Amino acid sequence: MKKSSRKVVIAGNWKMNKTRAEAATLIGQLANAPQNADVDVVVCVPFTALETAVNAVKGTAVKVGAQNVHFEKSGAFTGEVSADMLVELGVEYAVIGHSERRQYFGETDATVNNRTRAALVAGLIPILCIGELLEEREAGITEEVLSRQTKLGLAGFTADEVKRIIIAYEPVWAIGTGKTATAEQAGEACGFVRGVIAKLYGEAVADGVTIQYGGSMNAKNGAELLAQEDVDGGLIGGASLVAEDFKTIIKAAVGV
Ligand code: 13P
Repeated sequence: MKKSSRKVVIAGNWKMNKTRAEAATLIGQLANAPQNADVDVVVCVPFTALETAVNAVKGTAVKVGAQNVHFEKSGAFTGEVSADMLVELGVEYAVIGHSERRQYFGETDATVNNRTRAALVAGLIPILCIGELLEEREAGITEEVLSRQTKLGLAGFTADEVKRIIIAYEPVWAIGTGKTATAEQAGEACGFVRGVIAKLYGEAVADGVTIQYGGSMNAKNGAELLAQEDVDGGLIGGASLVAEDFKTIIKAAVGV
């Protein structure tokens, strides 16, 4: 399957930014973003802004995502939010295993796998994040890390389940640093991950999986990154907080 037949997903990861009022304003500014059937646009907002966001996107093509989801359905898990709670709100996507969660909140490949399962069971589309640290790239073990994170993140899933998962390749050294992977590095890593999925599930499944790039993607470099054969969209932090910049990236994906 060619890139042209895969779904492109442009997702903003707002991280811990924007109050409800600010969220409504920013989403309002995205309402006139270009759109087509091959590109999904998602805003992954803080839990507190989810309801506001779901209301603000009504009548637009923009979808709403959360930035995490717990793996149990309910129970004594202070501070956590279940997949069913998100679905009830009208949330459609969930970022899982972001490097900031792995780095600061003890997320492991096993918890990422469990959260992804819970998201799938509830009908959410997981955006499963993987990516190597700078020291891992410098030590020449990028592929080993991506292979491990992909295999353990997807452990136990059927081919049909994998088809519903989005993978976000985010080299940790490129996140929030202004240091983007070159288009070639991004394309190569996303292609490598597709190869890992192909070994696990076969080429047909791997060819259909959306694999995003994330890490300092912005209005200037978006088009070049998105033009890579194996890069099917972006997970965008800082630039997704500025409506014009995010819209420029959406335009590059939609091709207008
Ligand atoms: P930046 O785009 O700010 O580098 O963040 C990338 C990211 O972590 C998206 O999840």
